[in-house]
Amino acid sequence: MRDASISEGLGRIVCPCALIGAKKGEIHDITTVAWVTQESSSPPQVTVALHSKRYVLELLRETGEFVLSLLAEDQEKIASFCGSHSGRDTDKIKALGLELEPSKAIHTPRLKDCLANLECKVTGEYESGDHVIVVGQVLAANIDPSRKPLLYYQHQITRWG
Ligand SMILES: Cc1cc2nc3c(=O)[nH]c(=O)nc-3n(C[C@H](O)[C@H](O)[C@H](O)COP(=O)(O)O)c2cc1C
Repeated sequence: MRDASISEGLGRIVCPCALIGAKKGEIHDITTVAWVTQESSSPPQVTVALHSKRYVLELLRETGEFVLSLLAEDQEKIASFCGSHSGRDTDKIKALGLELEPSKAIHTPRLKDCLANLECKVTGEYESGDHVIVVGQVLAANIDPSRKPLLYYQHQITRWG
């Protein structure tokens, strides 16, 4: 063991690489997120930390729902693109040619191809530090059991294994 910077220490938290999607009318934005975790089992709930300036936050505040799509290890390009462009000036879904399908429990469509989709209704929002913690109750899920997750580790998008 050795002393380390706070940034190096925080970089050892293993995070999933995911997309959060929200759709208001015809406007559908998907944004890369890593600060995601389950925080309750009954009801099943997740939290996502979003910076207050994220466009996707504006959209999900209006609709009260979002899809959390956990990415698979070969979906690095999607994570990079959706994490470096804003829905304010880029239609990320069109730019990447992402395929969508109707969700089971909410109006926001889900990704056709990823590790897992969690369909969520917003049940809370808390300002904390420079981010807003959004709490979502998971109403439905689907998975691809054959795939491994894409991760965010040491401040980088990282493949499983
Ligand atoms: C790997 C990765 C992880 C990210 N994780 C988060 C996160 O957890 N929370 C957040 O607010 N932004 C995160 N971002 C930054 C947003 O994805 C980025 O600012 C995005 O362009 C915002 O898009 P929007 O304006 O359409 O919402 C991440 C970016 C990358 C590349």
